[in-house]
Amino acid sequence: MVTPLDREVAARIHRHGPISCAPVIDLALYDEDHGFYGSGAGGAGRRGDFLTSPEVGPLFGAVVARALDTWWDELGRPDPFTVIEAAAGRGMLARTVLLAEPRCAPALTYLLVERSSALRAEHGVHLPVTDPSLAFPPRAGDDDDEDAAGEGAAGTGPRVVSLAELPAFAVVGVVLANELLDNLAFGLVERGRDGWLEVRLSLTGDDLPLVETLVPARQSDAALADRLAPDAGPGARIPLQRAAADWLGEALARVERGRVVVIDYASTAPELAARPWVQWVRTYREHTPGAAPWEELGSQDITCEVDQTQLSLVREPDTVFDQAAFLEAHGLAELVAEGRRLWSERAHIGDLQALRARSRVAESKALVDPAGLGGFRVLQWVVG
Ligand SMILES: C[S@@+](CC[C@H](N)C(=O)[O-])C[C@H]1O[C@@H](n2cnc3c(N)ncnc32)[C@H](O)[C@@H]1O
Repeated sequence: MVTPLDREVAARIHRHGPISCAPVIDLALYDEDHGFYGSGAGGAGRRGDFLTSPEVGPLFGAVVARALDTWWDELGRPDPFTVIEAAAGRGMLARTVLLAEPRCAPALTYLLVERSSALRAEHGVHLPVTDPSLAFPPRAGDDDDEDAAGEGAAGTGPRVVSLAELPAFAVVGVVLANELLDNLAFGLVERGRDGWLEVRLSLTGDDLPLVETLVPARQSDAALADRLAPDAGPGARIPLQRAAADWLGEALARVERGRVVVIDYASTAPELAARPWVQWVRTYREHTPGAAPWEELGSQDITCEVDQTQLSLVREPDTVFDQAAFLEAHGLAELVAEGRRLWSERAHIGDLQALRARSRVAESKALVDPAGLGGFRVLQWVVG
């Protein structure tokens, strides 16, 4: 199947010659008309293309709600306490966090940041999304505005806002990103006998399908690759994740006091270099592996394991847990035990509360599975 984005990339190659992987991936995922996320065609969920932790069920959000309370306490219970959830998708994590009624809720301003306008449009369906101008309390020096003061006043949370990008100002609170960085566009380089080569995409003769072609890497890319994987042998590949590193820099700048929390599947650059690249660049469609990444652009997710080494060049994380350990540290076992107890009390009623309680056991298994979501890494950077 040839897609409109395959044709668009072919046209660009006709005009400019072989093209780097990053702009092709960005187009495939985020083009507003035909991109996998940009058009709203693809996404996480049981009826979607793959299952992320928030989509497994409400348990993940319930544990995150507890983590938020812990971090709120550590910060001295500020009001507002702002949570910026980057890559909010359809808003499932926000919904399940709020469903769990965290103690910090009255102080909470929850910003869902989602690049895809099609997915953003779904935020208001299940969440009480409010106008950004009403959610932020006036700061010293702002003109008095009674409405703004009312909505944003202390103790009136949770206030929920939907945005396309990170806000322009810094907050006291948390920037949280679950499975964002693996979906940001990346370049690919391969170690040649005499130095690093960039993987570009070209045409077969004059036409599709796209094929890879290797060109000498730019000096800055070669220097970065040497730094990341100095021992890589001929044929080894690594991703260059500049968009992920830039995002981390921006996220850190948005936190006045608090933390940045990134949850994703991650490895180090030397680990990636030692494995075939097709293991760490993957495609998904309707819960099954998709076609090769350069085929049927826009019809499938393209995702790349996150290179922790490149994030560490921005700033070394303060803590790195695997997801299972992170969830345990924030009360997973207690929530599952509570679920078991509720189920035994209410099984004969069989109401929604009883069924939710029962499903916690199965959800927990999926969230801590070391071969799956439990093996994800939770990287945290503490600010202030
Ligand atoms: C794999 S999905 C994860 C969704 C959700 N966090 C979850 O765990 O179910 C990645 C999401 O990141 C969004 N995204 C990509 N780049 C973004 C950016 N710079 N800012 C905000 N969202 C972004 C995509 O549109 C997509 O909805």
